[in-house]
Amino acid sequence: MDNLKTNDQESPPAKMDAECVNFFYGKKQALKDVNLSVRPNQVTALIGPSGCGKSTFLRLLNRMNDLLPESRMEGTIHLDGQDIYAPGYDVYELRRQVGMVFQKPNPFPKSIFDNVAYGLRINQLKTGRELNETVEASLIQAGLWDEVKDDLKKSALTLSGGQQQRLCIARALAIKPTVILMDEPTSALDPMATDVIEKLITELKKDYTVIIVTHNMQQARRVSDETAFFYLGELIEMNNTKALFEQPREEKTHSYLNGHFG
Ligand SMILES: Nc1ncnc2c1ncn2[C@@H]1O[C@H](COP(=O)(O)OP(=O)(O)OP(=O)(O)O)[C@@H](O)[C@H]1O
Ligand SMILES: [Mg+2]
Repeated sequence: MDNLKTNDQESPPAKMDAECVNFFYGKKQALKDVNLSVRPNQVTALIGPSGCGKSTFLRLLNRMNDLLPESRMEGTIHLDGQDIYAPGYDVYELRRQVGMVFQKPNPFPKSIFDNVAYGLRINQLKTGRELNETVEASLIQAGLWDEVKDDLKKSALTLSGGQQQRLCIARALAIKPTVILMDEPTSALDPMATDVIEKLITELKKDYTVIIVTHNMQQARRVSDETAFFYLGELIEMNNTKALFEQPREEKTHSYLNGHFG
């Protein structure tokens, strides 16, 4: 499966890479021998029909599946060359470095300010003026500042869905991750809010590595540099996005892109 690795010698080292990853929910195998490298400062899209293992794979990248009873992972996943499943690896530090944004915006029932400040406070990273500055910078980076700067004390639940999702992105950015995982971040949003988030994702890759699961193939084409196509738990093909969509190498990819399944 070496040909699935997109990391050749001229590229910078992979930001994250998975080697021979298998994952089981009880007896059910959800991922089969997945080898996948993610380059730094790029957007990588994971696509494929429902149930093919996209979210399972994404969650393995910050060890969100660790606590599932009866689940088992095999293989290796590296972040900056370090095995994140090695005994003694600091999971808290991993989750600080690898942030996550979910499908449904999930702000806490707190103020806008407190949502963004949350991770900084529990990790005791910032206080006082520094805290205020980081909250502001995160909201600016998430493209939400102008809309909320006069209402920071208002409940986050009063925001629209698209604003809530940008707030969740600001919350993720505040603790300065290097990788951001997004699982269908726009599927609950209208086209205008989706457009705002897509532009934001493109901006974010200057500073972060972004891995996004999407059902929307046009979205994958618009926002991603590389695309990985999963089918029934296997990584069928990964390539730069234009090549994958225009000249898929595998018959299954071709069929999926032409709407034959999923
Ligand atoms: N907590 C769980 N317990 C048992 N099986 C699960 C669990 N989560 C997912 N699965 C199964 O693992 C397989 C992969 O699921 P996963 O959620 O990763 O797919 P997906 O590609 O993200 O799908 P979708 O596009 O519908 O979100 C599916 O067959 C699913 O039913
Ligand atoms: Mg999913």
